[in-house]
Amino acid sequence: MPTRARTQYRCSECGADHAKWSGRCDVCGEWNTIAEERDGSRTSRKRAGGGAGKSGRASGADANTPFTGAPARLATVADTATERIATGLSEFDFALGGGIVPGSLILVGGEPGIGKSTVLLQVAAALEAAGRPTLYVSGEESPVQVKLRADRIGSSALDVPLLAETDVATIMDVAAAARPALLIVDSIQTVYSADLEGAPGNVGQVRECAAQLMRFAKESGVAIALIGHVTKGGGIAGPKTLEHIVDTVLYFEGDSTLEHRVLRATKNRFGSVDEIGVFRMTAEGLEGVGNPSALFLSDRNAAHASGSAVTALVEGSRPVLVEVQGLAAKSGYGTSQRVATGVDGKRMAMLLAVLERRAALPTSALDVFVNVVGGARVHEPAGDLAIAAALASSVHDRILDPRHVFIGEVGLGGELRPVTQLERRLAEAARMGMTTAFVPERGAPRGVGALAVRPMKAIGDVFAAVGA
Ligand code: TYD
Ligand code: MG
Repeated sequence: MPTRARTQYRCSECGADHAKWSGRCDVCGEWNTIAEERDGSRTSRKRAGGGAGKSGRASGADANTPFTGAPARLATVADTATERIATGLSEFDFALGGGIVPGSLILVGGEPGIGKSTVLLQVAAALEAAGRPTLYVSGEESPVQVKLRADRIGSSALDVPLLAETDVATIMDVAAAARPALLIVDSIQTVYSADLEGAPGNVGQVRECAAQLMRFAKESGVAIALIGHVTKGGGIAGPKTLEHIVDTVLYFEGDSTLEHRVLRATKNRFGSVDEIGVFRMTAEGLEGVGNPSALFLSDRNAAHASGSAVTALVEGSRPVLVEVQGLAAKSGYGTSQRVATGVDGKRMAMLLAVLERRAALPTSALDVFVNVVGGARVHEPAGDLAIAAALASSVHDRILDPRHVFIGEVGLGGELRPVTQLERRLAEAARMGMTTAFVPERGAPRGVGALAVRPMKAIGDVFAAVGA
């Protein structure tokens, strides 16, 4: 294996290697992202492995330690993946699928200011309060800044050991000695490996440090949470490959001007994806929101207008009611506008075409806006009917009953198609005090508690039933 360092070019967006420099990465299509990089990762990985052995990090190799170089029969591998540390921050545990798996590497991504440092300091505080040691490494903020945050969060946050360090080898040495249940690295863009040339934050450094930390996590059983900043494009700054290295990717979403935040698992080797944890940012840190439907539907009845419809989505394993708003207004100039927030633009275009052809609802001369309230997202077809109902309601300026819920995929023929997990959606609607659910005919149950279920064949039937 060649260990000689060589010059190569790498895209800072997707991490693809190129033989020569060019203005545009032909892998991801981004411009001005290719930079020269001295690749010493092969050599450094070797050195890091050797160093780990000397400092005792690679000791204790047996069938249950990964990367031992010796095969082991699957039957002899201890089933440690089911063991989880509940942090006590229930929404965080929920997003992870029940808690932190020892030895796992978790990436927490999000825009600056969204609350990544806050949530992880709270997780550390909760673990300390439960008698589990933690280590918070800050390369981003000074100890004083972290202390100010800890002061806001509360007493046990002040018990969290803080290390201001950016050298990954030192971080691992300290962690190897301290053996915390959770090591937090804030952020992966600030740490560097001395084995590698290049400034912290460049693709090679980020990738190499993450790979070394992954190895350390697996060998030591210390779970590690990496904080990663998200670029304008929405990816975690530096390489997309970081997402491939880690076990779990959590994205912190939400408008930083709004108080609530959604923590969403987009990758999870130990659980299902698309589980969400919902928080509210308060003056004392993040507070879990145990009842997301209430949050997304809040303020709803205060100013009820036309163009509003509620649907029931399934976020991971949890049903959530969200409000979809539609607004159709006469276009001021030439081409009409189509703006979708929280809804896929292509999906909206399709629904507009279906409304025009199958429900005699022409919108081509109208500006059309669709918005999902509270920063929630409608990412499954089950929300189609609510989008269509909100738009029809706006076009005709007829208010829909706020206690009606609309669930169903809309086909190109205007027909309503069945959705998954209908019972659970209906149960949530009933729990939230909805009175009537409009659902696809096929597979519709009779009713759930006080909730009346109205099976429907096509969108036209729904509009006729509600007078939209
Ligand atoms: P922070 O965790 O620093 O974000 P990130 O690490 O993702 O960049 O949190 C940023 C915002 O949260 C900041 O604008 C201040 C606010 N905040 C509160 O409103 N209450 C709090 O208790 C704390 C700690 C922060
Ligand atoms: Mg931060």
